[in-house]
Amino acid sequence: MTPVMENIELIPPDPHTGLIYAQYEVAKEETYLDPIRAMISKDLSEPYSIYVYRYFLNQWPQLCFMALDEKPPHPIRAVIVSKLEHHRSGTYRGYIAMLATSSTHRRRGIGSHLVSLVISAMQARGADEVVLETETSNSASLKLYERLGFLRSKRLHRYYLNGSTAFRLLLYLREGAGTRILGGISLPEKVRVEKK
Ligand SMILES: CC(C)(COP(=O)(O)OP(=O)(O)OC[C@H]1O[C@@H](n2cnc3c(N)ncnc32)[C@H](O)[C@@H]1OP(=O)(O)O)[C@@H](O)C(=O)NCCC(=O)NCCS
Repeated sequence: MTPVMENIELIPPDPHTGLIYAQYEVAKEETYLDPIRAMISKDLSEPYSIYVYRYFLNQWPQLCFMALDEKPPHPIRAVIVSKLEHHRSGTYRGYIAMLATSSTHRRRGIGSHLVSLVISAMQARGADEVVLETETSNSASLKLYERLGFLRSKRLHRYYLNGSTAFRLLLYLREGAGTRILGGISLPEKVRVEKK
């Protein structure tokens, strides 16, 4: 398993986690798809079909990272799934679709490390910005992303199938990307970006 490191500063995980980080490989779908689905469906309220997983994993395997136990058979302890596409606003937009850390491995920097791996992989591919949605009640997720510099750009009322409301979070990777698309709610003074 080769850990993938881009030439960009990463948030290091706790060195004592006993994990290795690996990019998803389509050829290993049989090994990894079911454990990835099991981990994500356990923790995220939104039900995703296998086609949704394949949509992301088969097109953007280089933007899906797994934290695997270093001991064979290397069970998955955390995963992040994302994509990168041109958005109608004109930006090259990364999108983080799913992130989960096993409940036994939380608060050790693993989720933050996966997000920083994805950000650096997107940055290396020329992304302008990264977005995602998370439930307004998910304080763990909000804290994690906001510590990495994400801003709340929109409140999406009853966004999820279970009726809960989401924040859209946004991270600008390039100067100027934000002025084109930022709408929504208040930002901290020191990071406030001019709205159009
Ligand atoms: C959100 C989640 C991915 C965080 O994973 P993690 O590996 O524990 O994250 P990290 O250890 O990198 O946490 C980074 C920071 O986020 C914040 N955070 C994480 N979990 C938290 C919690 N339960 N309560 C409060 N803050 C929390 C903390 O500020 C933490 O830093 P600290 O431990 O130094 O205080 C994990 O809780 C999870 O899988 N939750 C269920 C699925 C989910 O909600 N996914 C995100 C949906 S978009």
